[in-house]
Amino acid sequence: MQNRNETEQYISLVEQVMEIRKRGEQPLAFIRTYGCQQNVADSEQVKGLLAEMGYGFTDTPDNADFILFNTCAVREHAEDRVFGNVGALKSLKRKHPSILIALCGCMMEQEHIAQRIHKSFPFVGLVFGTNCIHDLPKMMYQCLVDGKRLIVRGSQDTVIYEDIPKRRDGTFKAWLPIMYGCDNFCTYCIVPYVRGRERSRTPETVINEAKSLIESGYKEITLLGQNVNSYGKGLSDDKKMTFAQLITEIDKIEGDYLLRFMTSHPKDCSKELIDTIANSKHISTHLHLPFQSGSDRILKRMNRHYDREKYLEIIRYAKEKIPNVSLTSDIIVGFPGETYEDFQETLSLVEEVGFTSLFTFIYSPRKGTPASKMDDPISYEEKNRWFQELLATQEKISARRCADMVGRQYRVLVEGYTNHGTELQARTSGNIIVELQGNENLIGQFCDVEVTEAKNWILKGKTI
Ligand code: SAH
Ligand code: SF4
Ligand code: F3S
Repeated sequence: MQNRNETEQYISLVEQVMEIRKRGEQPLAFIRTYGCQQNVADSEQVKGLLAEMGYGFTDTPDNADFILFNTCAVREHAEDRVFGNVGALKSLKRKHPSILIALCGCMMEQEHIAQRIHKSFPFVGLVFGTNCIHDLPKMMYQCLVDGKRLIVRGSQDTVIYEDIPKRRDGTFKAWLPIMYGCDNFCTYCIVPYVRGRERSRTPETVINEAKSLIESGYKEITLLGQNVNSYGKGLSDDKKMTFAQLITEIDKIEGDYLLRFMTSHPKDCSKELIDTIANSKHISTHLHLPFQSGSDRILKRMNRHYDREKYLEIIRYAKEKIPNVSLTSDIIVGFPGETYEDFQETLSLVEEVGFTSLFTFIYSPRKGTPASKMDDPISYEEKNRWFQELLATQEKISARRCADMVGRQYRVLVEGYTNHGTELQARTSGNIIVELQGNENLIGQFCDVEVTEAKNWILKGKTI
């Protein structure tokens, strides 16, 4: 169990340290988050604790007293970016020796990475893994006061620390983790090793948090977990609930809001869940259901526990029950031993389903996973050609789906300005982006729009 008094004691200690060593008025923290929404949600807890310790926040490392990168280990590319960006902090630390540079998150749970950081980046003072966040004040105290260099890992810790404060990034969109870790051990994936065993928050804590978010005006809540469909595993009998039951309960909360969730695993995606979405008031009509590969042979080698037909059966049921359901997926191209024929099965599945959009990845070997030991004879260049073929196929499908939306009306949540800055960007329940002209006051509000134009996969609309 977490000892709250102990945490508060450390917070006050760190505050004292800050008093002595602050460079400006208030010590500042710079946090950069890589990876998935789970990491984003974790960073919100880190920021919550830092705020309690008296820190303010800055969006550049140059004037920060505390610099933290929350890292992702899912593909090699993600790790390379972190190494590059950490290297760049060396001169900053030389200029301002009092700053504390820290790294946390999934990458840090890997022994070989922690060692590499220890050896190659002596200016990094603190390394901590997933599920160590509650100890941040204590760890910072040890670094700042005792002058220690710390490496702390926590993926084996199965406790859920419920009372860590959160400082949410959004004012109308919120992440709500309902479970942590993963037990699926897909053979390519590092997540179960760095996030530990699957554990669920109790229905009561999740529902109460959703209630308080809705009461304080949040318009979109996204429930998070590596496999939300297996929610509830390990809860005591009196608290047992399936994911479908959980979202049914949340859906009953009065208010004007949209409920999203991710990620769903096809092996646990029940008809009950699809019926729940279909009959709900607030649940989005978007289903993100990663299939990874269209080839049964490859799905077996990936340890995914479903086959192409089972996947298509869920898709058919979802299309039948949820009008205009918007489907998205993750796909891996070039899994070890995958042939061009296997890849063709992925392509044909993509054509058959008609996804709104896809998250596509070239297989990246992860140290310690079973797939990294499998024979992988296809060259990266070849895999990249297949990958481009997949992108081209999906581009046509997305363009067709967007063109079909022209002239129709949708309820959207306006999120802010587009990257180019002049128009507003909004999102449909199906998670499709619509750009529109409008007043700043619309940001954070639902409004009805008519789609006026589709440029490939970008939609333009006007408010009605
Ligand atoms: N828990 C989620 C997603 C986790 S990671 C799920 O099961 O769907 C997000 C995506 O990254 C995965 O769906 C997969 O498509 C991709 N991915 C994971 N490991 C990978 C690897 N080693 N190489 C390439 N892509 C990978
Ligand atoms: Fe990784 Fe599979 Fe777990 Fe998703 S379900 S996090 S892909 S092991
Ligand atoms: Fe990356 Fe960890 Fe998420 S490995 S994808 S940040 S769970």
